[in-house]
Amino acid sequence: MSSEETYDFFAPEAVWNSDSFLHRVRAQSPVYWSPQFHGWVLTRYADVLAASRERRLVSPPGTGWLDRLPAELKPRFQPARDALRLWAGLSSEQDHLDFQRALKKYFTPAQVDRLRPRVQRFTDELLEAARTPGELEVVGELARPLSASVIGELLGLPVADRELLLRWSTDLQSFFQHADLESLHRGQRSLLEMQDYMRPLVDERRRAPREDLVSVLVSQEEGFFAREPEAVVANCVTLLFSGHETTSRLISSGLLLLLENPEQQALLRDRPELMPSAIEEMLRCAGPTVAMIRVSREPVELAGQRFSAGESFVLVYKAANRDPEVFAEPDRFDITRQPNRHLAFGMGPFACLGTALTRMEAEVCFQTLLRRLPGLRPAFETPDWKPLPPLNRSLRSLRVAVPPRA
Ligand code: HEM
Repeated sequence: MSSEETYDFFAPEAVWNSDSFLHRVRAQSPVYWSPQFHGWVLTRYADVLAASRERRLVSPPGTGWLDRLPAELKPRFQPARDALRLWAGLSSEQDHLDFQRALKKYFTPAQVDRLRPRVQRFTDELLEAARTPGELEVVGELARPLSASVIGELLGLPVADRELLLRWSTDLQSFFQHADLESLHRGQRSLLEMQDYMRPLVDERRRAPREDLVSVLVSQEEGFFAREPEAVVANCVTLLFSGHETTSRLISSGLLLLLENPEQQALLRDRPELMPSAIEEMLRCAGPTVAMIRVSREPVELAGQRFSAGESFVLVYKAANRDPEVFAEPDRFDITRQPNRHLAFGMGPFACLGTALTRMEAEVCFQTLLRRLPGLRPAFETPDWKPLPPLNRSLRSLRVAVPPRA
């Protein structure tokens, strides 16, 4: 460690000015022992990349916050802990591989292409529904419902029930952020409600498979999903958790970047072929997953230091993505940036499985917004952020002025 400085990752500065805060941490203490996380915080691109590829580091099961509750409270949250233990099969390496194998069967390029017209239809319908008053509230009227509709499609939910996903998704966040007891209770209630909802739907897919992801999960004849009776139902919740809020935040913060950088918006309108690279730059600058935890299952060498088994590491993707050693002018939003090897989806054995779907969804959404709303302007003085310590915030709303119908 190169400095005596201590850092409070939950402080207002770390939430509201996280980029400059993280520049400071990276420059002064790139491998920083944090008592708040009981782990080593890694902020340099090279170290985060090496840690995410390191097979001796594993992703801990999703029960993190609940495991740290005082002993007398733990039994109250046993139902949630039982479900979270099954998320992504993270309790064992083999289960995790089974989980990934099953999901990869579904998330093929052909499948993502098959979903494209539906994503287009959802986007068009949402914009039609919201256009009348001359204003669009992007978070509530587009980003969240669009992303929920796509997850609903994967899970095979009837369209009319997709509102439920929005509530469940909000409540589930409590398990993975600094939450009070009341939010944890709400999280558990929604988790169990979603599982109860999914159970008959999952049974139906067992009897009569369709083209959705649930049908792929129930068709696994061996391994994790075949062995654990609750695994399919529990992992429907994982998919909502992993895929909803993330994609929704990418759409709203990506659009905010275009509003704050009108010359980049103009460039994208002039050169629509830049859309894929604009989305990569949105992921780099405003990637919704700030950091992930890893634990060493064996001694390991990282960033030139040796660590024993059982140590925790916080891989701060958000800091890696703005490391000046890798990205020239890292705080500049540049939709032509090449190469752009950001880590917004993670990397290595725990990398995101929804990358192709996310990229397609963002592409359809931004193409449609730019095409249908030519004079896209902010309808706010300052962005309406909600703090999400540690190190994060998300847009509560994003109001844009919509030109009158042509
Ligand atoms: C902007 C959108 C998204 C972002 C930024 C994102 C980010 C990530 C990141 C950083 C990880 C790796 C976590 C780690 O290092 O441990 C991850 C894992 C995962 N993501 Fe995504 N994700 C997005 C969308 C989605 C979508 C739409 C889905 C599917 C519907 C999805 C499914 C998953 C799954 C299943 C995992 C666990 C992979 C594993 O453990 O093997 N993600 N995501």
